[in-house]
Amino acid sequence: MIKAFLFDLDGVLTDTSEFHYRGWKRLADEEGLAFDRADNEALRGVSRRESLLLMLKGRVISETQMEAWMERKNAYYLELVEKMTPADLLPGAMELLSELRAAGIKIAIASSSKNAGLVMDRLSLAPAIDALVDGNMVTLSKPAPDLFLKAAELVGTRPDESVVVEDAAAGVEAGIAGGMWTVGLGPVERVGMADLVIPSLEDVHLAQILAGLEKSGHHRI
Ligand code: BG6
Ligand code: MG
Repeated sequence: MIKAFLFDLDGVLTDTSEFHYRGWKRLADEEGLAFDRADNEALRGVSRRESLLLMLKGRVISETQMEAWMERKNAYYLELVEKMTPADLLPGAMELLSELRAAGIKIAIASSSKNAGLVMDRLSLAPAIDALVDGNMVTLSKPAPDLFLKAAELVGTRPDESVVVEDAAAGVEAGIAGGMWTVGLGPVERVGMADLVIPSLEDVHLAQILAGLEKSGHHRI
């Protein structure tokens, strides 16, 4: 019995994953670091600090330098977020949220991002959800299950009654680690370990998701 949907934000409800990429890319170009979209795949869903460490590919810099680079990337990212409006919700996102709400299913956003509250405001998403858990609220980010466990706790459901929706390998891993059902959005190379893999939320309905999850034969619990 599914009672809650726990959504990742960046790359699931809106295309901020592209903005995160552009922020890191701008920093990398300025600093002469090799970084492309293929490298970026590993950064999806992981925290700001972990992203920088991945981008550095083993190169060691001082803590002060790290702080400065993270701040710079974040400023570039925020320049893009500033221009967002509710029209930046991805196709199908609001339709699915409304359908879930009408079906009495709890809805949470669980994002590694410290900017998730701001993005949620730009998208006017607050009335459509029951809880938000962001990167300011946990110590361990994805792939640890903490963000999703906290989200399930806030909406009052058990992990095995909760469905995680993710675009990142680290996020699907976090859902699996939390004992939740998982829906992966995107290519199987990235989210293939999810119970159900679909390209995006466009034209996706609750009944299809539930049928897909049932077919998966998930028996982690
Ligand atoms: C995740 C994104 O949601 O948040 C990552 O997928 C990002 O790309 C992470 O690095 C942390 O975000 P922020 O806004 O705290 O730097
Ligand atoms: Mg994401």
